[in-house]
Amino acid sequence: MGAVQHDLPFTSPWLLAPMEGVTDPVFRGLILGRHDSGHLGGAFTEFVRVIDTPLHRRVLRRHLGLERFSTPVGLQLMGSHLPALAGTAERVAELGVPLLDLNFGCPAKGALRGCAGSALLLDPRALEEVVRVCVDAVDGRIPVSAKIRAGYDDALLVEELARAAEAGGAAMLTIHCRTRAEGYQLETDWSRIARAVAAVRIPTCGNGGIGSNQDLERMRSQTGCEFAMVGHGALANPWIFSGGQVTPEHALGFLFEYVERMLAIGRRPHSAMARLKQLIRVWKAGDLIPDEATRLACLREKQLDGLQDRLADLAQAPRATSASSATP
Ligand SMILES: Cc1cc2nc3c(=O)[nH]c(=O)nc-3n(C[C@H](O)[C@H](O)[C@H](O)COP(=O)(O)O)c2cc1C
Repeated sequence: MGAVQHDLPFTSPWLLAPMEGVTDPVFRGLILGRHDSGHLGGAFTEFVRVIDTPLHRRVLRRHLGLERFSTPVGLQLMGSHLPALAGTAERVAELGVPLLDLNFGCPAKGALRGCAGSALLLDPRALEEVVRVCVDAVDGRIPVSAKIRAGYDDALLVEELARAAEAGGAAMLTIHCRTRAEGYQLETDWSRIARAVAAVRIPTCGNGGIGSNQDLERMRSQTGCEFAMVGHGALANPWIFSGGQVTPEHALGFLFEYVERMLAIGRRPHSAMARLKQLIRVWKAGDLIPDEATRLACLREKQLDGLQDRLADLAQAPRATSASSATP
């Protein structure tokens, strides 16, 4: 077992979840730029898939992006090919990334076929081995964390999975409380997080179903986890970590800057619109989208310009009650 104990780099207990197709450098930059490191304690890249050869540094650098913030960003790898993972983990450490995270939760078919992501939840010993190989490869230079789901088809093995990550030398364990079979269903059972927390001595991070700023502390007090991680909740409200109320104009500013930055790095308008709609589907911040009919109308827009005009009109629309006046 990797014997080196590591201080985790996080600056507060609240973490932004890794989300493929979302938490790229553009989206992360927008969120990190709007939070000081006391409110948002850490973020992650999207998962970076390792197949059968170590990834080039340029691939890792692309996921890390160029901007740096006071909030640390961990790099997440997903794979099960031990030599390729070890070689990649070594490069991650050389690049000075503050933390390496390992994905044991991805339910996608590609990950399952490659026996990576949540496929490893079926085999705690294999999961332990993946962690150990990466811990050995980074050789004490950076902490390695593991992110699991509560199980594959059921949550019976959650303690065993947690202990396997710890035995492999993980410096932190994140438990997404849904099983692979539960996908991203709305209901969550935080008692599974509490079970994993009780099974290990390493720091733990709870994840699943946090929908408000109050939920962050509630998850910690109900489960005993040290950190709490937010996925969908941060897409609906990027200010969830600070709890700051925002105006419709602030909300619009976020969405417009998102588009601007995507276009600036060469995304085509249609692709930028698809990413914008991904947020609009769940967006709550600033009460910019007042009801479901308006949300649907936004999602039906065919052109980016048209969608932006509609959002701009919404920000100007009179409201019955001022949603908030405080600045974020
Ligand atoms: C669009 C999307 C992409 C995701 N990609 C990843 C990923 O790359 N790595 C990972 O560990 N989890 C990934 N997840 C899972 C989230 O990190 C998180 O565990 C999950 O959304 C549960 O948290 P929530 O209920 O707060 O959303 C993804 C989730 C979503 C919705």
